[in-house]
Amino acid sequence: MEIARTKAEIRRLVGVAKKAGQTVGFVATLGALHGGHMSLIERARKETDFVVVSIFLNPTQFGPDEDLDEYPRQEEKDLALCEKAGVDVVFAPSVEQMYPSGHCTVVKIEGLSEKLCGANRPGFFAGVSTVVAKLFNIVEPDIAYFGQKDAQQGLIIKRMVEELDMPIEIRMCQTVREEEGLAMSSRNAYLDAKQRKQANCLYQALQEGKKLIEGGQVDRDKVTAAMERVITQAGPCSIDYVAAVDSQSLEPATAENRSWLLALAVRIGRSRLIDNIVVEIPGPS
Ligand code: PAJ
Repeated sequence: MEIARTKAEIRRLVGVAKKAGQTVGFVATLGALHGGHMSLIERARKETDFVVVSIFLNPTQFGPDEDLDEYPRQEEKDLALCEKAGVDVVFAPSVEQMYPSGHCTVVKIEGLSEKLCGANRPGFFAGVSTVVAKLFNIVEPDIAYFGQKDAQQGLIIKRMVEELDMPIEIRMCQTVREEEGLAMSSRNAYLDAKQRKQANCLYQALQEGKKLIEGGQVDRDKVTAAMERVITQAGPCSIDYVAAVDSQSLEPATAENRSWLLALAVRIGRSRLIDNIVVEIPGPS
């Protein structure tokens, strides 16, 4: 496995692979790899010839009061995991390498970026879409893999690729969960044992919402109120949002919608946790 620290080096390595006719698969990460990341990498390994993983803790997607400084950093461990998973190249640039002259160019996907996670984290998705656009331009993958755990991020990246005519296919991968349902996340590391147990309430709330919708409930406020009850009953926390939206437009879900995205963000202790599920409603037969 090669480790590229510069844009020139990763371009050279990918260039060699492409010249040999290999398809390039790409997984972008902030590092602190866990089972969720590894599932994307495993899929890329199966479906493409040459697998590139980026490890870059992108500062522009963290707000001034957010957890950039305490975000877990474990590069040695991450590299060992990538090596074991059969990754061909890890691209692990410095902040100076990625933003040598600051960052006044911004890729912003309007509308989608202001909803859900974008409402309370201004600038977050602009930071994400800009860095992913840069990574796509540097790596030039054929296929890029993203996790459904960050459903809104996936929709934004898909829209960016479509509207900026980037010749890249985006494949979404299922959310990987711990045994009791908690979605794997680097931020789970901030939770103590009690909070970790409490955090299962996110998944339980999603299941409660799904049960109601499948039982015929089409009033989104009733669905989200029931989900909020599950969360508040589990212990002390602060709810950022609990939403029932159309899974493509992220507009509030209505009785006409056939595909609902139930999504939530909850702070437990120092950790802001997000999760979601898609509930498909069978049409009238
Ligand atoms: P990060 O949080 O490190 O996630 C990297 C990728 O792993 C994303 O596509 C995310 O959706 C996926 N992922 C995380 N947890 C997952 C889980 N439990 N199951 C399945 N997939 C999971 O998302 C980012 O980094 C950044 O915003 C990035 C795209 C790298 C841009 O900086």
